[in-house]
Amino acid sequence: MSTAAAAGKSVYNVKNPFIAKVKKSHDISAPGAPKNTRHYEIDLEGGELEYLPGDSLAVQPTNDPALVEDTLKALGFSGAEIVKHPKSGVEVPIRQALKEATLITEIDNKLIKAIIEKTGGNTPLNGLLEPEKKEELKSYLWGRFVLDLLLENPTAKFEPQEFMLTQKKLNIRLYSISSSQRAHPKEVHLTVATVKYSSHGRERGGVASTFLADRITVGETLIPVFVNHGKGFRLPEAQEETPVIFIGPGTGIAPFRAFLEEREATAAKGKAWMFFGEVSEKTCFFYKEEFERWLANGTLAKLTTAWSRDQAEKIYVQHKMLENSAEIYAWLQQGAIVYVCGDAARMAVDVDKALHTILEKEGSMTAEEAVAWMASFKEAKRYRRDVY
Ligand SMILES: Cc1cc2nc3c(=O)[nH]c(=O)nc-3n(C[C@H](O)[C@H](O)[C@H](O)COP(=O)(O)OP(=O)(O)OC[C@H]3O[C@@H](n4cnc5c(N)ncnc54)[C@H](O)[C@@H]3O)c2cc1C
Ligand SMILES: NC(=O)c1ccc[n+]([C@@H]2O[C@H](COP(=O)([O-])OP(=O)(O)OC[C@H]3O[C@@H](n4cnc5c(N)ncnc54)[C@H](OP(=O)(O)O)[C@@H]3O)[C@@H](O)[C@H]2O)c1
Repeated sequence: MSTAAAAGKSVYNVKNPFIAKVKKSHDISAPGAPKNTRHYEIDLEGGELEYLPGDSLAVQPTNDPALVEDTLKALGFSGAEIVKHPKSGVEVPIRQALKEATLITEIDNKLIKAIIEKTGGNTPLNGLLEPEKKEELKSYLWGRFVLDLLLENPTAKFEPQEFMLTQKKLNIRLYSISSSQRAHPKEVHLTVATVKYSSHGRERGGVASTFLADRITVGETLIPVFVNHGKGFRLPEAQEETPVIFIGPGTGIAPFRAFLEEREATAAKGKAWMFFGEVSEKTCFFYKEEFERWLANGTLAKLTTAWSRDQAEKIYVQHKMLENSAEIYAWLQQGAIVYVCGDAARMAVDVDKALHTILEKEGSMTAEEAVAWMASFKEAKRYRRDVY
């Protein structure tokens, strides 16, 4: 284990990123899957980037050049107009500033205010900045980019630098690292769902996930990255015998692939149980062969899967946890640590509820006792979550 990575220190950061290249990129969802999920291998050769399982990688993307061109056209700019780069302050052509440093897929209130002023209030945006219109504004902006507001309000004309001052900065995106550096000393792997959707008559994409999926050339494109050290989201520290339960549907699988590679490389003794969920076994059983190997060589004691759309009713990881409640409770009694990774808004909430139900059912606890048990479970750092 690297002492620098273990101490959460790194030579690289947002101001001094490691400039990496992707050496491999492939789809891990099969044709017919409702969304595209990809595995990336980033080359660390020639650098000193160190990480531990549980860390995430910060990736600095750039915008889609086609969207930049459409935005320039809507602004009536050639692209050569000189503006200040929002990050470095250096004077650059606006085309470069929009591509590298401006979040043109999200709308800042400053842009809305400027459009209301420039149109004399003759815009659907008029009034939406009032505090009581917060939800109305959110729903109006959902699925719209800066380009949409420009096209919908053609009388609002901007000077290049004036426009730049109405824009948010394009910052890094975090991705849970899905490899162990013991297994891949000169690589870092990511597992990323490509965000694509259609709204207001336009096909759209998430900035970073489509940058990785569609706009890099393997072995060529330079990508600024650095490690975000995962405070607390770590394999058991001292006691190798500690059982671990990993719950990671969708891209929540990423850190658990790293944990399992690490457990395999260190021949970890304690037993491990993985709950994985996706839409369909046929199209979305990510890393299936690796799971089979880990089950065969004892790195993984149990794998429980939940395929949400392979039958009429939804089956999610928490349903599988409830089906296995007696055994989960037994593992908890043996000192298991529970790890959860993936969607924060729905999955992590439902998994938390399932744990309470298991305590009430198998531990004969009242609802209040289950709440108290979970509080001390968290206090003992046996409930580790990395949810987004
Ligand atoms: C600690 C951490 C770890 C993470 N690990 C992973 C990981 O391992 N793998 C992974 O894939 N992701 C991971 N994420 C999420 C990741 O950081 C990005 O948020 C994700 O990839 C989307 O980024 P993007 O730039 O592609 O999309 P963005 O440009 O940020 O676009 C996303 C936005 O698009 C809009 N949008 C999306 N769908 C629709 C729709 N149907 N209609 C209208 N608008 C829509 C929404 O406003 C949404 O917020 C992690 C996040 C954190 C914080
Ligand atoms: N809050 C959000 O807006 C939100 C939520 C999830 C993911 N995302 C983003 O969407 C992208 C793709 O996510 P992902 O690939 O990780 O997959 P995901 O959308 O989280 O889906 C993975 C699996 O979880 C299931 N699921 C849906 N609701 C669930 C719940 N309440 N409890 C347990 N499982 C549930 C899904 O089933 P079904 O799809 O069949 O219902 C699917 O089988 C990522 O960029 C992620 O950040 C955003």
